[in-house]
Amino acid sequence: MKAMTEKKMLSDEAVEALLAWYRVHRRDLPWRKTKDPYRIWVSEIMLQQTRVEAVKPYYERFMRELPTVQALAEVSEEKLLKLWEGLGYYSRARNLQRAAQTVMRDHNGKLPNAYSELRKLTGIGDYTAGAIASIAFGERVPAIDGNVLRVLARVTGSYEDIALPQTKKNWQEALKSCVPKEAGDFTQAMIELGATVCVPNGEARCGKCPMAAHCVSCMKHLTDEIPVRSAKKPRRIIPKTVFVIADGNRTVLHKRPPTGLLAGLYELPNAEGHLDEAEATAYLRSIGFDPLQITPIDPAKHIFTHLEWHMNAYRVRIAPDFDGVDESSGYLLIDNDELRENYAVPSAFSAFSKYLLF
Ligand code: ADE
Repeated sequence: MKAMTEKKMLSDEAVEALLAWYRVHRRDLPWRKTKDPYRIWVSEIMLQQTRVEAVKPYYERFMRELPTVQALAEVSEEKLLKLWEGLGYYSRARNLQRAAQTVMRDHNGKLPNAYSELRKLTGIGDYTAGAIASIAFGERVPAIDGNVLRVLARVTGSYEDIALPQTKKNWQEALKSCVPKEAGDFTQAMIELGATVCVPNGEARCGKCPMAAHCVSCMKHLTDEIPVRSAKKPRRIIPKTVFVIADGNRTVLHKRPPTGLLAGLYELPNAEGHLDEAEATAYLRSIGFDPLQITPIDPAKHIFTHLEWHMNAYRVRIAPDFDGVDESSGYLLIDNDELRENYAVPSAFSAFSKYLLF
């Protein structure tokens, strides 16, 4: 009889209060107007590392351009990356497409309707499988992201380290028996509470929280101590020099290698280290360009998950009749109109986009 008497991680009353709150306070978001598993899948992937407000226009455009799993499976890589341009973490888009191709081949174009099958698809981890299964199919499985970890730590008053994978694993197991029959609303309500009420950095708005009466951290004033999250390793700093090389109508891009950071994307040419003007000129000559004029422009930083690029930069003018680029070098001279329409340049370089037109 152990299972019958064991205390649930969240009581039925707490879950009921949360659902009632969600019905009234839920934000009206585009992916909440549908039960289409494909749409929910795409939204959850976009939302993984990107804010809700930033995702909205991308989601709407993606759905207009690629409304079905089949359309996603068949779209060209260039078009896919262009639709993703600015969202960052491009491997998310590539994994989406790989999984869409698997769904076409093995599942008749329909996303599988069970957590365990969804979990096997490229790019779908525990959280995303839980979110799709609960929201689109009503399966009673939890979906635990960073927001939900924070809510759970606070409600239960747990000092366990939420950065540890084991904590997530334990809570995923513990939360299973708490998921109500309104599984999708429960998933979204937990996320919503974490995003709008049980916010990070000790600022929890307990006065507005439907679970306050059930929350250990609220009752004991522990929201500035909980959750506990062990410090991440500091990011590696990479100094770089970026070149906006143009002749007035065309700009030079470089295709990145097929694996690793920003794999296969087009970038502004760049070199390791902070080069002074003489070093920069020598470097440009070594890669086949003959600068007529080289001018320093504002430096910029870009932060990735594990590293930071600290970029100095130069604007470089080359002759309009320059035709010395050898395609095998990975450098391309692209017409500016075409660059805007067809090439996805990662947002790491967006600080320099204002210099793209001379
Ligand atoms: N973040 C992750 N999933 C979300 C969702 N479905 N709604 C709002 N924010 C989210």
